[in-house]
Amino acid sequence: MKRISALLAMILLCTGLSHAAPAGKATLPKDYEKWEKSGEKVVNDKKSLFYGIHYTYVDKKAMPAYKAGKGYPEGSRFVVVFYNIKEEGGKPVKGKKNMIVLMKRDKKFKETGGWQFAGFGPDGKPSMIDPVKNCFECHEKDAKDREYVISRYADFK
Ligand code: HEC
Repeated sequence: MKRISALLAMILLCTGLSHAAPAGKATLPKDYEKWEKSGEKVVNDKKSLFYGIHYTYVDKKAMPAYKAGKGYPEGSRFVVVFYNIKEEGGKPVKGKKNMIVLMKRDKKFKETGGWQFAGFGPDGKPSMIDPVKNCFECHEKDAKDREYVISRYADFK
């Protein structure tokens, strides 16, 4: 009986969690490592969500709009890959991969400015995030006038 209720609790937990998942399944693009890649960015502030070392990848569709700062066509994609920071000889170097995030232009996602926001673990499996609270609110605050894309091509290189 104990086992059954534990099982039931687990099923309830799982179905509960799946409701929190973003609408429409997100998949990590397979070829993003071949897209144009930013220089290394180091965020030392441990309180920042972006703490760590990260690289931004921009696909071909998004690139002209990224350079212009607006006009992203449907399907435009950004992927950011994060690594932990390791100290080596007093210098910050790349540790383990810890998170991957995706933005994909898709007009169905009205609540998040016409972009699908998704997070993944280092293994590429989707993580349970609330795309409005965990992602969009910050992007809206920082980049409302740039179609919610925060980084700029000018500081890319
Ligand atoms: C607290 C603010 C904040 C939150 C929350 C946040 N981001 Fe960002 N995001 C940023 C900043 C700042 C950048 C620019 C980083 C840079 O300059 O390299 C960025 C960049 C990005 C980019 C590259 C395109 C761009 O806008 O420059 C993607 C993709 C992205 N974030 C996805 C997400 C996803 C998915 C989530 C939710 C899991 C999320 N972000 C949550 C602040 C945030």
